This record gives sequence, structure tokens and C-alpha cells, in this order.
Amino acid sequence: MRTIESYLRMLLIMTLCYLIAEWVIDEPKGTVLFNPYVLGFLFFIFLLVISFEVIIGVLERIADQLTTPEQRVALEEAKKQKALENKWKKRFAEWLIGKQTTPEAQLILEDHNYDGIRELDNPLPPWWLYLFYLTLIFGVVYLGYYHLFGGSDQKQNFEQEMAMAKEQIETYKKTAASFVDETNVTVLTDASSLESGKSLFEIHCAICHQNDGGGAIGPNLTDNYWILGGDIKSIFLTIAKGGRPGKGMIAWNNSLKPQEIQQLSSFILSLNGTTPQNPKAPEGTLINQ
Ligand code: HEC
Repeated sequence: MRTIESYLRMLLIMTLCYLIAEWVIDEPKGTVLFNPYVLGFLFFIFLLVISFEVIIGVLERIADQLTTPEQRVALEEAKKQKALENKWKKRFAEWLIGKQTTPEAQLILEDHNYDGIRELDNPLPPWWLYLFYLTLIFGVVYLGYYHLFGGSDQKQNFEQEMAMAKEQIETYKKTAASFVDETNVTVLTDASSLESGKSLFEIHCAICHQNDGGGAIGPNLTDNYWILGGDIKSIFLTIAKGGRPGKGMIAWNNSLKPQEIQQLSSFILSLNGTTPQNPKAPEGTLINQ
């Protein structure tokens, strides 16, 4: 009885500590348990509670040895009296662990005997039994829901969520005025945008295209010949997604913002028709602009 009580107490204390951690720490619910500090703290409390229980056990044993037989009988009586008063507590304990096996009950042995191993015919503890029934019910519900009536599985959930996210992206694109991509990009002509485009170009692109766009490793960006298309949308797409594989023009959409790519594209278009110092020979097809 005492051991059961201390198990329950321990469980209660640990749950309480966990709930407090969950409440105090500002993280998404359920993730707190994986925080190493919380785990360490819970383990510390666990050790503390165990040592507390052990000390109580030792003290009780010492007290037991100090009492005379008469005192012990009187104590037993008092305990029994108290147990009668604690009827609900007793019932709950009985429900939890089943009726205590009396010495007579222990004699209820099964008939079989395997190499001296015998079996006791004790009733199962209710908590175990009801848990077992619960798993049966769960199994039936699960079978019905997923296998007979086609409840949605993880794959379907994933697809649903992806579709929802796509929709959200679409509505975001429509509502966010500042959002640019290759479908709605326009040429910027104001001086400050072109200035930003120029400085971005000098930082990121000039090594391959030259400061004046005349071309080196990358093609000449000032002529009317384009490999990947010379309108604002094509240029935006080339910068965002990169050139043909293996040519050296990488996708910049991971390191540059859409607005920056728009400024760069506009700046490149503003270079059209200028005369660079060392122009590279035209590449691609002639596009009259
Ligand atoms: C490592 C060298 C390198 C860097 C850096 C580089 N490019 Fe390029 N770029 C290239 C190459 C090579 C090509 C040709 C791609 C192909 O042939 O598919 C190219 C092609 C292009 C084109 C298409 C030209 C056409 O004729 O269709 C544009 C526009 C362009 N780059 C702009 C940029 C911008 C803007 C940056 C900076 C954000 C940049 N590039 C940085 C090497 C580079």
C-alpha cells in the first residue's frame, strides 16, 4: 500500500513540475519536454523525490523496530479503523491494483505444473484490464475509421496542407502590393531604383559581367543579343532562377530579395545601347527592342 502511495505521489510531483515548466517557458506546447534544461531539472526533482521516499521508508522501519508487540497491535487496530474510515480511498486503491491477495487466495494454484513452475489464478488488476479493453475499442475504431471508411491518412493530410499553403501564397501574392515575381514585374525608371540596381550590380555581378555590363565570363548585357530573353520578365527570371545549368550564372533568389532583383533587371535594361569599354562579342539571338 505504501509503495503504491509513493508511486502515485512521485507521478503527481513529476507531472506538476512538467506542467509548471510548460507554463513558465515560452515555447510551443509540448516541445518543452525536449529542452535539455527541463529534462535535467525534471531528473533532479526525480532524484530528490526518490531520496525523500527512501528516507521516509528507513524512518518508518526504525520506528517499527522501536515499538513493542502490544503497541504494534494497537497501531494495527488504529490503522484498520482509519482504513475503514477511508473507504473511498480504499476502493480507489482496490480499483487500481485489484483486491489484495490474501494468503488463502495465494493457494489458488492452477493445476498445471511445468518443471516446477506453477501459475497463480489471481484476477487481473482492474487498471490493466480496462486499459486492455480500451485498446480493443481503440483498435475497432481505428480499423473502421482508416480502413473501412477511408479516413484521411498522413499522405492526404500532407497534400491538403500543401494545397492550403499554395492557396495562401496565391492570396498573399495578390494582396501584397510590394510582391514582385516574373509574372508581374515592371521596369523601374526612377533614379533611386536604378542607383540601387547599379550598386547591387557592382557588388554581385560585375566580376562576371563588368561594371559597365560589357561582359567577361558572363555575356554582354548592353547589346540587343540575348541568350535567355531580353524583356524585363525574362531578365528577372534569369537572375532569380539562374542561367542554363553549368554555365556559371547561378540562381540569385536565395540571396537577393524580389525587389532587389527587380532593381537589377531595370538597371540592366538601362544599360541597353550604351558602349562599354571592352564589349564582349554578342551571344544569343538578336532581339529588337
Ligand atoms: C560567376 C559569374 C557570373 C555572375 C557572378 C553573374 N553572372 Fe549573369 N551570367 C553569367 C553567365 C555565364 C551567363 C550566361 C548563362 C547561360 O549561358 O545560360 C549569365 C547570364 C546572365 C543574364 C542573361 C543574359 C542573356 O544573354 O540572356 C543576365 C540578365 C545576367 N546574367 C545577369 C546577372 C546579374 C544581375 C548578376 C548579379 C546578381 C549576375 N548575372 C551575376 C555569369 C555570371
